[in-house]
Amino acid sequence: MTEFAKMWEDRFGLEADTAAKHLNPTIEGLLTRRVCRTFAEKDIDGGLLDLLLACAQSAPTKSNLQQYSIVAVRDPATRRKIADLVPSMPWIADAPVFLAFLGDVRRIRRLAALRGHDYANDNADTFMNACVDAALAMQMFIVAAESAGLGCCPISYIRNRIADFADLLGLPDGVFPIAGLCVGWPANDGYVSMRLPPDVVVHRETYDDSDLEAGVGDYDERNHARFPLPPGKQRHTERYGVLEKCTWSENVSRQLSLPERDGFAAFLKSKGISLG
Ligand SMILES: Cc1cc2nc3c(=O)[nH]c(=O)nc-3n(C[C@H](O)[C@H](O)[C@H](O)COP(=O)(O)O)c2cc1C
Repeated sequence: MTEFAKMWEDRFGLEADTAAKHLNPTIEGLLTRRVCRTFAEKDIDGGLLDLLLACAQSAPTKSNLQQYSIVAVRDPATRRKIADLVPSMPWIADAPVFLAFLGDVRRIRRLAALRGHDYANDNADTFMNACVDAALAMQMFIVAAESAGLGCCPISYIRNRIADFADLLGLPDGVFPIAGLCVGWPANDGYVSMRLPPDVVVHRETYDDSDLEAGVGDYDERNHARFPLPPGKQRHTERYGVLEKCTWSENVSRQLSLPERDGFAAFLKSKGISLG
């Protein structure tokens, strides 16, 4: 098997049907990337962190509005407090750097006031733009960090304790958490997660999901053969029980059968974010 065929097989559990001739180191890095949740006890040089943050700021941003901020947390005491908000995820305390990626509509509101203009865009579109900006910045950071040998783990679980997290970082009105990111040196290789087949996710010319059941069924089989879900990773077993074979589609359906973070809209409102 060629190296490219192995990358494709790892990512999709399928035979590669795309030409390998276009490969380059960036693409190889992306095809083989994986989340990191086990970090070595080793700090990150401040110069390197600043460089990676500059890469994050190089992300595309809607109309160059730059409606996001990043809080970089290195202080072990603060990282400990963040980790304590999410006790099920000890990797938060283990990583030497924790970044909070935030939607930030405060900056432009302040600038509008400074320039003497009305601000007329408290709406869902602004919220969406801020989320996309922050997400792209986070992903640019991840790509740059992984190219430098670092490992990263996004953390949406901070939104389970969103008000406490916002207080901890001193977030004012107009600034809201989108995701955290643990950053550190990987203590092991981790593994490549298998993704849905391209045919299920990528539609050609028009949207067509008529083959969804078959496509996901095959993926469920391949994924289960490689990564059988142990009882501890099966969702809501108290309600649905433990299965010998708990497939991806079963598990994600279980997960979303109960509301998650349904206090988010109320939190946004409390921070002066309007979705109207
Ligand atoms: C927005 C976002 C939030 C995430 N939140 C968490 C989290 O709270 N805790 C965690 O351990 N992993 C989290 N992850 C990591 C995903 O679980 C991981 O990316 C996914 O399982 C696929 O694995 P891979 O990145 O190795 O391909 C998050 C990822 C994203 C993009």
